[in-house]
Amino acid sequence: MTINVGLVGLGNITQYHDIYKKAYITHLKSLEKIPFFKIKFGCDLKKKNCLDFSRKTNAFVSQNINLCLKKYHPELIVIAVPTKMQMNCIKKIIDHYSPKVILCEKPFCENLIQIKKMKNILRRKNIKIFINYPRIYNPFFHKMKKILLKNNSSLLINVSYKSTLLENGSHFISLFNFLLGKKVMINKKKK
Ligand SMILES: NC(=O)c1ccc[n+]([C@@H]2O[C@H](COP(=O)([O-])OP(=O)(O)OC[C@H]3O[C@@H](n4cnc5c(N)ncnc54)[C@H](O)[C@@H]3O)[C@@H](O)[C@H]2O)c1
Repeated sequence: MTINVGLVGLGNITQYHDIYKKAYITHLKSLEKIPFFKIKFGCDLKKKNCLDFSRKTNAFVSQNINLCLKKYHPELIVIAVPTKMQMNCIKKIIDHYSPKVILCEKPFCENLIQIKKMKNILRRKNIKIFINYPRIYNPFFHKMKKILLKNNSSLLINVSYKSTLLENGSHFISLFNFLLGKKVMINKKKK
């Protein structure tokens, strides 16, 4: 089995975050580890990022997403651009074809109106979208979930995070929704 992949946005989370680390953090290193993924193209507005990517893979690389999409229609598209650029990239992709799956970096869209609009478009095109909140795939948290579900009481948990609720706090909302198997209530306090 082969799953062809196209990468849009070749920045830190796609190719730089784990350069000097053993861990698999970036999309590129993770995809290359799994033999059935075949990277078909990479695209970034920045020339340097394209050059760095082309040194690491044999995939087609371009600063112009339309060139990539004219040449390849991979089943999986990974989108790792800043949130405000996500809609623009997704629209360009679906103008060309419907990938089976889009893996999009968090946080998804800038507001709820955009999310609902995107959800409708993707549903009509039969495209599945996953937002990359990786903690919920970590086996450690799967074990923790089993323990928490046995003890079915309410929990009050304090979390400190850097940056904004949307940028980093959303990781914890995703994680606690997963761990507790229900929607969490958030009470945001400023330090
Ligand atoms: N899931 C996680 O744990 C995690 C971790 C880090 C970052 N992120 C998310 O990933 C996204 C990217 O973060 P990053 O740190 O890699 O940022 P980055 O700035 O290093 O990379 C983003 C890249 O997107 C490119 N880009 C912007 N618009 C584009 C377009 N229209 N077409 C093609 N390329 C375009 C930029 O040139 C840049 O190189 C952010 O939304 C961030 O929140 C998620």
